[in-house]
Amino acid sequence: MSTESTVQAFRASLLHFHADPAFTADAHTWIEDGLLVVEDGRVKAAGDHAALLPTLPPGAPVADYRGKIICPGFIDTHIHFPQTDMIASPAPGLLPWLDTYTFPTERRFEDPAHGRATADFFLDELLRNGTTTALVYCTVHPGSVDALFEASAARRLRMGGGKVLMDRHCPDFLRDSADMRDSQALIERWHGKGRAMYAITPRFAPTSTEAQLVATGELAKAYPDTFIQTHVAENQDECAWVGELFPQRRSYLEVYEHYGLMRPRAMFGHCIWLDDTDFARMADTGAAISHCPTSNLFLGSGLFDLARADNAGAPVSLGTDVGAGTSFSMLQTMNEAYKVARLKGSYLPALRMFYLATLGAARSMRLEGTIGNFVPGAEADFIVLDPKATPLLARRTAHSDALEETLFALALLGDDRAIQATYALGRRVHERGAAAG
Ligand code: GUN
Ligand code: ZN
Repeated sequence: MSTESTVQAFRASLLHFHADPAFTADAHTWIEDGLLVVEDGRVKAAGDHAALLPTLPPGAPVADYRGKIICPGFIDTHIHFPQTDMIASPAPGLLPWLDTYTFPTERRFEDPAHGRATADFFLDELLRNGTTTALVYCTVHPGSVDALFEASAARRLRMGGGKVLMDRHCPDFLRDSADMRDSQALIERWHGKGRAMYAITPRFAPTSTEAQLVATGELAKAYPDTFIQTHVAENQDECAWVGELFPQRRSYLEVYEHYGLMRPRAMFGHCIWLDDTDFARMADTGAAISHCPTSNLFLGSGLFDLARADNAGAPVSLGTDVGAGTSFSMLQTMNEAYKVARLKGSYLPALRMFYLATLGAARSMRLEGTIGNFVPGAEADFIVLDPKATPLLARRTAHSDALEETLFALALLGDDRAIQATYALGRRVHERGAAAG
């Protein structure tokens, strides 16, 4: 194997962000005939093809993706890999869905071989959909975390994940305890190793005893650059239950704050039934929101209020929440986010949706400069979008001159078919139509 530096380049239209288009004019960069230059898996430059081509070393390969759009890989900030096999399992609401499908499905991860096989499928499905980074729930079994990180290391992906913590209100076969030694050992084994990022993962307040929440908060304090992920205020029955279990707390979100679980790198899934004080605490503590529209519509959980989160300055990103979510595609997640915003009386432009799925998510996770855009030195995780991927997309985008219109068509009509190729650290990890590896 050569140890020389390797430069390669990719010619296409380029799209990436340096700010949130909801708050800043000219938040994005669009280069019609662009060149993305990658060296040793990192972005070296992103600019005009004509200007950058002469800067390439002689013989550097240039992939020709003219007619396509290259943008940073999508970042899914809330997904459950063990629920892959139960996607599209209908239930009258969150709590019966958990009892009927989720807990029996997660039990199967007692078997490490099942964990690894599912992780392999799961990651390939993410890559087929253009998602290069995700914050992933595993199960209570430590082996499920090893399975995820071994499979993502094999693909050289930047992935976050962690062992679910739950020690009450769940079946005995999934119950753990307030003893954090398993989670601590997993942090030591994986966090910061290669591209792995550990996420401390209390499932949600109802399935943790006070002792477990205390221990979880201490762990989060001891490892301040780890991630935290949990669910909050997804469903009204769940909210009422939390009110009964924690009567001394002002709100559901305040339960987490009380135990030290609101801090930078904490990602809260759903956030539908929060009030303005909660949204303000999100902004003040540096915690972030993962909005999961396909899941919320599927389970009938409610409609997330993006404008309210924006008004409070709370950071928002998008999550699929598979298996309650109904698609691995961040394009389909944008589609549903758009409609949820409409039902809440606001309008979500396509540029904002692409921001939320790239730089917005990276910022929410405190990974700006590492992933999410094409600043020099960023890891070269990117996707090639095909605006003519299907006959309908081709017909619709044939007469769309404006970028917003093309991106809107991709978000509303696109899915895995619109992802021509996916690259991680400058290496192709998915190509549409290629035989599955
Ligand atoms: N709340 C607690 N656990 C879960 C889960 O697995 N999925 C969703 N959507 N909500 C939850
Ligand atoms: Zn979830």
